[in-house]
Amino acid sequence: MSLSPTNPSPRILVFDSGVGGLSIVHEIQQKLPFVPLIYVSDNAFFPYGTKGEAELISRVDAVFHKLTETYAVDIIVVACNTASTLTLPHIRSHFSQPIVGVVPAIKPAAAQSKSQVIGLLATPATVARPYTHNLIREHAPNADVISVGSSELVQLAEKKLRGEKISSQQIRPILQPFFDHPRGDEMDALVLACTHFPLLRDELRIQFPAHVQLIDSGEAIARRVVSLLGDRKFAEQAPEHLAVFTKASPAVTALQPQLAQFGIHNLDILEV
Ligand code: DGL
Repeated sequence: MSLSPTNPSPRILVFDSGVGGLSIVHEIQQKLPFVPLIYVSDNAFFPYGTKGEAELISRVDAVFHKLTETYAVDIIVVACNTASTLTLPHIRSHFSQPIVGVVPAIKPAAAQSKSQVIGLLATPATVARPYTHNLIREHAPNADVISVGSSELVQLAEKKLRGEKISSQQIRPILQPFFDHPRGDEMDALVLACTHFPLLRDELRIQFPAHVQLIDSGEAIARRVVSLLGDRKFAEQAPEHLAVFTKASPAVTALQPQLAQFGIHNLDILEV
């Protein structure tokens, strides 16, 4: 499905369970500073990485129906690896908008890795998905992929974005399986396959030797959005972004200063 060339001001919806999709918002804003965004966090159902497959598909379906009934949306970015690796076929067959999914950056990691020992850091659900295993089989057939699934790291990213300082002692035990692996010291590429994790890039960076590259899908997603928009011109003024949460809570209120750093000053609660 393509975007109508007559729509002068397409609205891009960026969707995640929590604040992780803001790492994708950042990448989109680098390339498209004047495009209005609707940032959606399904915080009522957060976290996604511990949920069963059937319940997650029906949840995402319900949330997207409510969102597309409520807002005029022209492009949907599923800024969540956990949701994308499971629900993309369903969403693509049920919604007419172009859908951009975020999936683990196995392909670029395999292309860049000299040792062909690659780390995969994601939610427990993403590391277990057949979709992820297929990506590895297809794009990194000769690599040793060391997979670590952590929901705790997702929680730490949420805390960091709300202003908490995250220490090495909180991060290190989560990463220990990489260091304990027999080929762990050969690893030279680490895929950040959860959109929350680039928010902890500095904290993760210092845990690994300098030759380990941290690779995520954010920039590629922004490029895909740019190509969907074609050569549309946008008024060069601060766009009116909107953040939507599926449940009111003190944690949402606490997030407002951080949302403002992304130029997001309007907030809606849409209960699903
Ligand atoms: N940010 C999401 C991802 O990219 C998942 C976080 C969660 O478990 O809800 O996988």
